[in-house]
Amino acid sequence: MGAMKTFRIAAVPADGVGREVVAAGREVLDALASAGDFAFDWAEFDWGCDYYQRTGRMMAEDGLDQLKAFDAVYFGAVGWPSVPDHVSLWGLRLAVCQGFDQWANVRPVRFLPGVTSPLRKADHVPLDWVVVRENSEGEYAGLGGRNLAARGPGSEVAVQSSLFTEAGCERIIRYAFELAATRERKHVTSVTKSNAQQFGMVLWDDVFRRVAAEYPHVDSDSCLVDAMAARFVLRPEELSVVVASNLHADILSDLGSALAGSLGLAASANLNPERRFPSMFEPVHGSAPDIAGQGIANPIGAIGSAALMLDHLGLPDEAARLERAIEATTAAGVLPRDLGGTASTKEIALAVIDSLG
Ligand SMILES: NC(=O)c1ccc[n+]([C@@H]2O[C@H](COP(=O)([O-])OP(=O)(O)OC[C@H]3O[C@@H](n4cnc5c(N)ncnc54)[C@H](O)[C@@H]3O)[C@@H](O)[C@H]2O)c1
Repeated sequence: MGAMKTFRIAAVPADGVGREVVAAGREVLDALASAGDFAFDWAEFDWGCDYYQRTGRMMAEDGLDQLKAFDAVYFGAVGWPSVPDHVSLWGLRLAVCQGFDQWANVRPVRFLPGVTSPLRKADHVPLDWVVVRENSEGEYAGLGGRNLAARGPGSEVAVQSSLFTEAGCERIIRYAFELAATRERKHVTSVTKSNAQQFGMVLWDDVFRRVAAEYPHVDSDSCLVDAMAARFVLRPEELSVVVASNLHADILSDLGSALAGSLGLAASANLNPERRFPSMFEPVHGSAPDIAGQGIANPIGAIGSAALMLDHLGLPDEAARLERAIEATTAAGVLPRDLGGTASTKEIALAVIDSLG
């Protein structure tokens, strides 16, 4: 009999529905582990907007040092009306992503049985694609500043610069090709706005062409982001892996999850592929203050993120088992409000646990 493997996971539920969906995901993961030969050793951190009200910080000053010791971070969502959004996002989520060089953000767009898509095409065409988001630079590099406000009302200026490095473009584009090579449809579509943004995004296009030439067995094409938004809606069957900058992929992945039925469905992994630092797994959605505290948040994005975490921890069979349990749950019509059902967050977690088999 093999020794029981224990994974040390840092749970950072943070704000709003983040707390509810992380609790649901933890329950599912513990149930999965109790039937397997592995375990989770959880440490929960109370960082977020309440912590900010008490301390003036979104996370402990040595927060990254504390998280370094873990095998992974399981994250909820940040943001609450009491704290400006750019303060909460930069103080916690982006601080972890950037501090741990989690440069690959993988966001699968999955169409689940029993979930009605707003796309009529989804009823008769199998759709399944992955958005690969550059997660370390681009438009979210945080470069710029505000100035000249002292000259009086109406005089302030702001500069927000995007950063594109050849190394940063190359590693995410290469990641996209490696991922596409493992998929049934071996195809990568690169998204930019290089007709209007003639420096960073033209560098991206150049790197894309160079890397694509190294993967002759993977098809590729390039598309401008505005055309891509239309293509997500009109010709999604052409998509397999879509690679884009931080901002573009952020927007497109929300569109993808809405097309699949709801923002509450979308899972994501923030990966440091070299494994120098822990990777972080979180639903794509935010803290949803409009429904927080009611027990009705859709936990499927968070539970799907747990499946991505299992895969990263070297448990691909368990990840696949969890994916199948999610599918069985939605196929059986156990749906949360955002998908037209009546099931609570807890009821969905329990249904997924029941479906683990
Ligand atoms: N990764 C993150 O932590 C992250 C991402 C996006 C937004 N935010 C923050 O979240 C806060 C709210 O932002 P927002 O309203 O633009 O985005 P949001 O994702 O929180 O909510 C958008 C809409 O989707 C619904 N929704 C979101 N998650 C859901 C779920 N699990 N189940 C059912 N419905 C769900 C909400 O009720 C809302 O109507 C802001 O403070 C924002 O900065 C954080």
